Amino acid sequence: MATEHYPVMLEETVEALVLEGAEKVVDATFGGGGHARRILQELGPEGRVIGIDLDPEVAARAAGLAEEDRRFTFRPGAYDEVLEGLVAEGVNVDVVLFDLGLSSYQIDEAARGFSYVREGPLDMRMDPGRGRSAADFLNDTEPAEIVGVLVRYGDVPRGEARRVAREVVRRRPLATTLELSEAVRAAVGWKERGGNPAKRIFQAVRVYVNDEVGGLERALSAAERLLLPGGRLVAMTFHSGEDRVVKRFISGRAGRCVCPPELPVCICGVRPIFRKGVVRRPSAREVEENPRSASARLRSTVRTSEPLDVDHLPEETP
Ligand SMILES: C[S@@+](CC[C@H](N)C(=O)[O-])C[C@H]1O[C@@H](n2cnc3c(N)ncnc32)[C@H](O)[C@@H]1O
Repeated sequence: MATEHYPVMLEETVEALVLEGAEKVVDATFGGGGHARRILQELGPEGRVIGIDLDPEVAARAAGLAEEDRRFTFRPGAYDEVLEGLVAEGVNVDVVLFDLGLSSYQIDEAARGFSYVREGPLDMRMDPGRGRSAADFLNDTEPAEIVGVLVRYGDVPRGEARRVAREVVRRRPLATTLELSEAVRAAVGWKERGGNPAKRIFQAVRVYVNDEVGGLERALSAAERLLLPGGRLVAMTFHSGEDRVVKRFISGRAGRCVCPPELPVCICGVRPIFRKGVVRRPSAREVEENPRSASARLRSTVRTSEPLDVDHLPEETP
């Protein structure tokens, strides 16, 4: 079992955050606290960090940091709900950071059911007290719906998704992670190249079970309402599905005119809410030292001073 989580792209994140001493930062995915601790080092005595995490096991680590450093406070819960709560309280912040996905603590602890190579209960919930487990979903859902989840959230080719769903249904009830891995292997075989095919299947089920896409969309629009002019929104993504959500969110607010092309002048009045963002990737050295960083993309963008006008905001999902 891992005893440590190596924060991914730590220095690049600090660079993207462009912190000043007295700023207020939200770390929406506290995890092992690696990013939060580094941010606190950058801030002065007046700076503040609010940490958020949904995983009940994170609370003890966060309580330790709150004891050590009075500039840090922790709010347990789902980031969309906590951020919406901060909006309702009238809080404003300079930075919101998301480091999405799982921490090494979660992946390596077999009992959490996230690992496709370690035997554990087929669970995959960030908060095991909330919602349906992966087993409940896979054992109790129409095959066509399972296929849709695998295609949508794992970028699994439809034919492969159908074979996996058929094999899952044939083997029901599934109770453990390795039972799911074996079903995937029986359905699509083992490819020497391209990695373990169970990886994308597990990713898709995890994203669905935790409503990661919906949660992220709601959290980004709450972040937008929290950020002060000049505030930074920084998000690290680890797969194309979550990266698409962040990319669309930013580009949809970067002020592109939405007038019909036949109009000679702009009448839509769309103004940029965020300045077009920058994308950073991990260095070759980091990928070599920590292969889990390989798929990371760090997107950052800056809030303009344009007031939010809900009529001018594009729809979240296409
Ligand atoms: C990649 S880890 C963050 C690691 C952290 N930056 C560090 O340096 O240790 C992602 C964390 O986000 C948390 N998380 C995932 N979905 C969440 C959600 N919807 N709301 C709050 N926290 C969430 C997970 O429980 C996990 O601890």
